[in-house]
Amino acid sequence: MHTIYSEESVASQQGKTVFITGANTGIGFETARIFAARGARVLLGCRSKPRATQAIEDIQTICPKADLAFVKLDLANLNSIKAAAEVVQAESSLDLLINNAAIMAVPRSLTEDGFESQFGVNHLGHFALTGLLIEKMLAQPGARVVTVSSLAHRTGKINFSDLNGTASYSSMSRYQMSKAANLYFTLELQRRLSLVDSATLSVGCHPGIATTEIGRHFPAWLRLITPLANPFFNSAAQGALPILYAATSPEVIGMGYYGPTKRGESVHSAGKARIAEHILDETTARHLWERSIALTGINFNLK
Ligand SMILES: NC(=O)c1ccc[n+]([C@@H]2O[C@H](COP(=O)([O-])OP(=O)(O)OC[C@H]3O[C@@H](n4cnc5c(N)ncnc54)[C@H](OP(=O)(O)O)[C@@H]3O)[C@@H](O)[C@H]2O)c1
Repeated sequence: MHTIYSEESVASQQGKTVFITGANTGIGFETARIFAARGARVLLGCRSKPRATQAIEDIQTICPKADLAFVKLDLANLNSIKAAAEVVQAESSLDLLINNAAIMAVPRSLTEDGFESQFGVNHLGHFALTGLLIEKMLAQPGARVVTVSSLAHRTGKINFSDLNGTASYSSMSRYQMSKAANLYFTLELQRRLSLVDSATLSVGCHPGIATTEIGRHFPAWLRLITPLANPFFNSAAQGALPILYAATSPEVIGMGYYGPTKRGESVHSAGKARIAEHILDETTARHLWERSIALTGINFNLK
């Protein structure tokens, strides 16, 4: 009989260390909770210590034996990313890196390093973080980098001539661009891992549409009506299932992409998801990779 993928499907994660960005709320929090309940050591990469501490307390209430640690991480600041990577380097191993944190549809602003914030936090921040941790992961059998994208990737195009959104800025298309970048990155990382015969996998996933704080920058009218639609969406816990699947299922392959399986991948459990055709373009992926190195100064040294 075909069983629906659920929290109970996740095998024991005893002995594994997982680093989750944006783990204090939403999908990242639920992912941290489930990993902790399955026995993993969970590092919560968060920008706010009070929010991370609250999340840790909440998980420990449900799961008193949870092995949790806060790692200060602001993806809008390369120095903070470097400091977080140093903390994680000191761990005895790193099995799973979950690139989950994101901001959505914010008014135009710049990161500490002068990058447009959605592209900077959602893509460049995770690019740099992964680049700083990849060597540690190469040494770890079964390691995976899981990057969270979105249905929004389908309409996302990388505006190479205006990466900072200086000439024009639409808060929604910049989010779409950043989520397309997440997937170009996922695929290009796997190509480069394969070139050096590494067993480490790069995998993508998305939560469908899930009830979280992601809409906090939406216009007031939209925030007002969203609760009416929430019963038709995934819960944050359901939205975490594709991450759990991508990170732990033995059926997962490098360059694989996973998400909810019903209503156009917007709801339900986890299974294979569809990558939009334009994301498969290797020239764009390579170009994005090179620009990301130039902007962050982080080189993966994979070849
Ligand atoms: N919810 C959905 O329907 C949906 C749909 C498609 C894709 N996704 C993707 O799912 C992932 C999780 O989103 P969510 O829905 O759980 O959103 P959320 O509830 O808003 O959580 C986002 C997390 O990212 C963190 N974050 C934001 N900026 C950061 C920074 N500069 N440095 C470090 N952490 C930062 C937030 O921390 P603070 O609490 O401190 O702000 C929070 O922990 C994202 O990649 C999102 O694009 C979500």
